[in-house]
Amino acid sequence: MVEILNSLKSHQVGEQEVNIWFKAAHVDKFPLNGGSCVKYKDMQIAVFNFDSGKEWYACQNLCPHKMQMILSRGITGSQGDEPKIACPFHKRTFSLKSGLCLNAEEESISTYPVKIENDHVYIGFSQ
Ligand code: FES
Repeated sequence: MVEILNSLKSHQVGEQEVNIWFKAAHVDKFPLNGGSCVKYKDMQIAVFNFDSGKEWYACQNLCPHKMQMILSRGITGSQGDEPKIACPFHKRTFSLKSGLCLNAEEESISTYPVKIENDHVYIGFSQ
């Protein structure tokens, strides 16, 4: 039980922690200002391509509110300088930088660095 709870704990993977840059797909496979779901090991990762500033973000696909694999189908936006994703079910909104929930008392989400090389999207993982 403790192992399961630990695996659900959120974590913001910084670039300095990255041991594996996972090649997800060609940039053309990701919609502008929308999300896509990528599988890495046993995890589902939501990847977002923000048109403004050509920024990319990645986070867990699991919404911690009702444990739904849904965040890749959420609504993107920003709050000040903070890029965010709103879950389509009950609108819990999370920062794609800090992983913090911005509008409710909710668990935070894991976030991952993204880089683009040779027109391919890479997501950084520590393991
Ligand atoms: S399941 Fe995401 S906000 Fe409720």
